[in-house]
Amino acid sequence: MRKWMGWIIGLSFLSIVLLGGYLFAQDEEMTIAHEEVFQKLERAPVIFTHQKHVDVLGGDESCADCHHVYSEEEGKAVYEEGEETGCTDCHGFKDEKREDGGVTPSLMNAYHTNCVGCHRKLAREKKNTGPATCGECHNRANWKLIEKTEEAKEH
Ligand code: HEC
Ligand code: HEC
Ligand code: HEC
Ligand code: HEC
Repeated sequence: MRKWMGWIIGLSFLSIVLLGGYLFAQDEEMTIAHEEVFQKLERAPVIFTHQKHVDVLGGDESCADCHHVYSEEEGKAVYEEGEETGCTDCHGFKDEKREDGGVTPSLMNAYHTNCVGCHRKLAREKKNTGPATCGECHNRANWKLIEKTEEAKEH
């Protein structure tokens, strides 16, 4: 009897630790799945570790690697501190020709140029880098992450 109680207490403790880790991990990870832009996703959602990227890419220096605003004077995207927003604010379903003649890439192209572009560049420089093949980012196992949110929305 004693032995069983020990096991049960041990297992409950373990599950609390695991659950805690899971919730913490969720906090640190973004699930990128812009169904509002792409409608039905062709590829599985992408897990993006925002804070880890910031840490690895140099803290406050890193923001400009990914974030920018549109500068009318310069007719291009420039980094402005404190103005970091989600990419969907400006990048839509299709590439878009602007009045100034420039083109604002589609959301998919913006992500691929930014994410895959950097991972490839660092790989060429033989530095610590991230994935560049489809399945590594669009990991099938990530489908469950949005099925879960849809379920949560229904309830
Ligand atoms: C470094 C990570 C990364 C890699 C590698 C990558 N993608 Fe993506 N891709 C993204 C992100 C982030 C999005 C935006 C996802 C979203 O909002 O659902 C995206 C969006 C897409 C979309 C539009 C959304 C959808 O699911 O319909 C397609 C299609 C796509 N990728 C296909 C590919 C293919 C094919 C490859 C390999 C040739 C690839 N991607 C490689 C990160 C990546
Ligand atoms: C490696 C790329 C990358 C770096 C570096 C980065 N971000 Fe981001 N950030 C993103 C992406 C991608 C999103 C939006 C994810 C999405 O589309 O759902 C985002 C979202 C955000 C958001 C939320 C915007 C919103 O409205 O949802 C804020 C705020 C933000 N970042 C601030 C920062 C700051 C400040 C830094 C520098 C300390 C930084 N980011 C560094 C890629 C990055
Ligand atoms: C305030 C609007 C705005 C936001 C927010 C925004 N972009 Fe952009 N982005 C633009 C515009 C406008 C261009 C086209 C600039 C040009 O024509 O030179 C652009 C261009 C790009 C390009 C192409 C750069 C090149 O050299 O070809 C990439 C990649 C990109 N954005 C990624 C992102 C990512 C990733 C995010 C989110 C973390 C984001 N953008 C958020 C407006 C925005
Ligand atoms: C400026 C360079 C840069 C950009 C932009 C960038 N990454 Fe990364 N990424 C890295 C580096 C460096 C690592 C390796 C981190 C490590 O393992 O220490 C990484 C690792 C990853 C990994 C592996 C798992 C992890 O989190 O360590 C994924 C997935 C990933 N990146 C997705 C993305 C996506 C999605 C985007 C675009 C929204 C993106 N990255 C943009 C540099 C970049």
